[in-house]
Amino acid sequence: MSYPVNRMRRLRRTDALRRLVRENTVLLDDLIYPLFVTHGLDVKLQVSSMPGVYHFSIDTLCREAEEVRTLGIPAILLFGIPAVKDEFGSEAYAPDGIIQRAVKALKSAVPELVVITDVCLCEYTSHGHCGVLRDGEVANDETLELIARTALSHAEAGADIVAPSDMMDGRVSAIREALDDSGFTGVPIMSYSAKFASAFYGPFRDAAGCAPKFGDRSSYQMDPPNRREALKEITLDLEEGADIVMVKPALSYLDIISDARASVDVPIAAYNVSGEYCMVKAAAEKGYVDERRVTVEILTSIKRAGADMIITYHAKDFAFWTKEGKL
Ligand code: PBG
Repeated sequence: MSYPVNRMRRLRRTDALRRLVRENTVLLDDLIYPLFVTHGLDVKLQVSSMPGVYHFSIDTLCREAEEVRTLGIPAILLFGIPAVKDEFGSEAYAPDGIIQRAVKALKSAVPELVVITDVCLCEYTSHGHCGVLRDGEVANDETLELIARTALSHAEAGADIVAPSDMMDGRVSAIREALDDSGFTGVPIMSYSAKFASAFYGPFRDAAGCAPKFGDRSSYQMDPPNRREALKEITLDLEEGADIVMVKPALSYLDIISDARASVDVPIAAYNVSGEYCMVKAAAEKGYVDERRVTVEILTSIKRAGADMIITYHAKDFAFWTKEGKL
């Protein structure tokens, strides 16, 4: 049946009707807030490349985490800024490294908050690559052992979920084995499964001080034009034991999220990355767009594509808007 019997506008007439037939809604429950932790005391340093994002020392981080929990955001994703960097990224797996100490403090200060740790070497290596170098290349198999050690040290500190972002082959099984061998059978792995070599990470690399000193990450992160390959990455990670798979970035990769939703039944995370966030902030500051409406539309599109959870720097703003009844 078509017009004039069928009129699509009937169900759009009022706000209440639209609410009734709405297919997707972003909830605070869906959000994960990224936080950066650094050495020192009483530090809260604005990151120059990312408005509203800070480096926290452990004490101020715990206060921030308490606020995040009070706002109703269920989880944070933690990144560390080490005191020293070396060729092998030693602080990434040091028992008293910045992440290990921060996780311990967080789990005692705000135990209900889910603490997810980013597992990668790039913030900790002097060369800025996500693995160890051999003849100028990132060596996959030698890196696996260090990645597994890093994840295990995070679990020992009390991390609720570990999230490997290095894109080495075989890291999920290496991490699963290391965790299980030490009795951490209950710690889930959220794998950055389809992580693309994206220019949208630009502001983050300033924030985390992890830009590669030479070359780029194209030999381990995915080539942006590839769609089928993303499903293969996701399938392999699930075979290796991933509990949650991630697509990253989110906005230019909604097709990948949608493909993943159609073919796997596990929870899918999407990372609304630094460059996506900063574009909105910059455009809003110039008055080109309405920040709240654009942000909600972006987050909704990520959910509509099929993501179950969204890692986003907008999480706190979203929580404030929710609290103020503006959504
Ligand atoms: C570490 C890592 C990166 C991001 C998350 N984990 C940077 C990169 O791969 O270069 C990017 C996050 C963002 O842009 O918000 N490997």
